[in-house]
Amino acid sequence: MTIRWYPGHMGKALEKMSEAIRKIDVVIEVLDARLPASSSNHQLQEIRRNKPCIKLLNKHDLADPNITKAWVRYFENETGVHALPLSAKQHSETKQLIKLCQRLAPNRGRPGWPLRAMVFGIPNVGKSTLINTLAGKSMAKVGDKPAITTCAQQIDLHNGIILSDTPGLLWPNMEDQDVAYRLATSGAIGASALDYTCVGLFAAEFMMRRYPKLLADRYKLDEMPETPTAMLETIGRRLGCLISGGEIDVHRAAEAFLRELRAGKIGRVSLEEPGDFADQSASIMAEAESGQD
Ligand code: G4P
Repeated sequence: MTIRWYPGHMGKALEKMSEAIRKIDVVIEVLDARLPASSSNHQLQEIRRNKPCIKLLNKHDLADPNITKAWVRYFENETGVHALPLSAKQHSETKQLIKLCQRLAPNRGRPGWPLRAMVFGIPNVGKSTLINTLAGKSMAKVGDKPAITTCAQQIDLHNGIILSDTPGLLWPNMEDQDVAYRLATSGAIGASALDYTCVGLFAAEFMMRRYPKLLADRYKLDEMPETPTAMLETIGRRLGCLISGGEIDVHRAAEAFLRELRAGKIGRVSLEEPGDFADQSASIMAEAESGQD
């Protein structure tokens, strides 16, 4: 038997979302393409029933393109799921989302029969950016308020589609420390909730293991420092994060390193790949890599 426990307000929020999903035709789950598993919310799987679901791999402009391809294949193995990488900031790219919604609900989108789509996602994945780009104007951000007090805002896109914002909060699985550190590395967790040095060390270790060449190019390294601490010190020296006496300010170095990583200045980086989660994904990765352009 599985025992589930949600705080009362979370239970109510899920109930309300589940109710809202009954009336919609397409579920759009916005994920961060750099960490699609860690930025997802598993409860959504439970409440979306059999509605068609688009997993939008947003911020793909920042993610490793080969790993994004592998994630697309991974998600498309799930029943009723379609994966679409895009950048919510680019109007031209969001048109693909409209086309996909229309394909998934072909009997909707006519006068009197609007296609109803709802946008879900944890904070910071780009829901508001997406809604604003699709609406062509800045809409109020309601998604980050508790569902009990909030009604989903409805936006008529004037193309047969009515888009709704999430009627509440969805949270990632923060009990898993790896998930929490990856979210912190991506910038999804606010600065007040984290220790920059710890997250910087996590990110440095990850980058040394997965993307050593990007680090070497960005910070002009002749040889790779041996430890994440030495890596942060080297970056701190390069970026001029010094305190009196010429010592490295590791905290500032970590902050600067994370800022560069999040902004894509080091390169396009994915913080997780399907193979990190399931053995069967190894073949999907290999397939994606063989299809590189
Ligand atoms: P949310 O509603 O899900 O909480 O997320 P929101 O749209 O507020 O986006 C969170 C951050 O992600 C914003 O950056 C936004 O600009 C950025 N973002 C959204 N979509 C994309 C994308 O496709 N590519 C990239 N590179 N960034 C994206 P911010 O720094 O918090 O705000 P701002 O200074 O950009 O306004």
